[in-house]
Amino acid sequence: MNCTEIEKELKEILTPERYMHTLGVKDCAVELAKRYGADVKKAEIAGLLHDCAKCMEKEALKSFIAKNIKDIQKNEMKNYKTLHAPVGANLVCTKYKINDKEIINAVRWHTLGRVNMGLLEKIIFLADKIEKNTRDINYRNEILKILDENEGEKGLNLALLRCFEETIKSLTERNLYICMTTVDVYNWLLEITIGV
Ligand SMILES: [Fe+2]
Ligand SMILES: [Fe+2]
Repeated sequence: MNCTEIEKELKEILTPERYMHTLGVKDCAVELAKRYGADVKKAEIAGLLHDCAKCMEKEALKSFIAKNIKDIQKNEMKNYKTLHAPVGANLVCTKYKINDKEIINAVRWHTLGRVNMGLLEKIIFLADKIEKNTRDINYRNEILKILDENEGEKGLNLALLRCFEETIKSLTERNLYICMTTVDVYNWLLEITIGV
């Protein structure tokens, strides 16, 4: 499938708001890919497909995972809101027939992130948080300011650190389970940016 065909398909299976968000992530991912020297075409495809499983029901996600996905971590199953990522990554291959590892990993890890995540993974993760169609404008501006004030990939890493800080804060405020991956990624980002 090319991007136009993927967009047409997504318009049918996603809610209007999710589709708007998807187009926003695609645009933002393309901008970030140009800025940081990632593959622009891959960023466009990964941006479009990152939430391709988002509108599946909780039970459908769980049974899809039980049947088709072997590398799921036990603690990932605790928050069903993150499950559309492994399912989406599987659909990238099986339904959309895209076999590129970078695209698949960018979709796979866009909800949780992971230690040593690659450039395209970082770009999709961040684009998902700050795209301009549906995300909070003040948060977007705060992240863009971090990118402007810090050269190269360090800016990207500091922006990600800010996102993880916010995620952990919001989870603790609501007494929600924090996946160990989230803590590990936060610590990794601290190490590679501030150096603790
Ligand atoms: Fe998502
Ligand atoms: Fe998203």
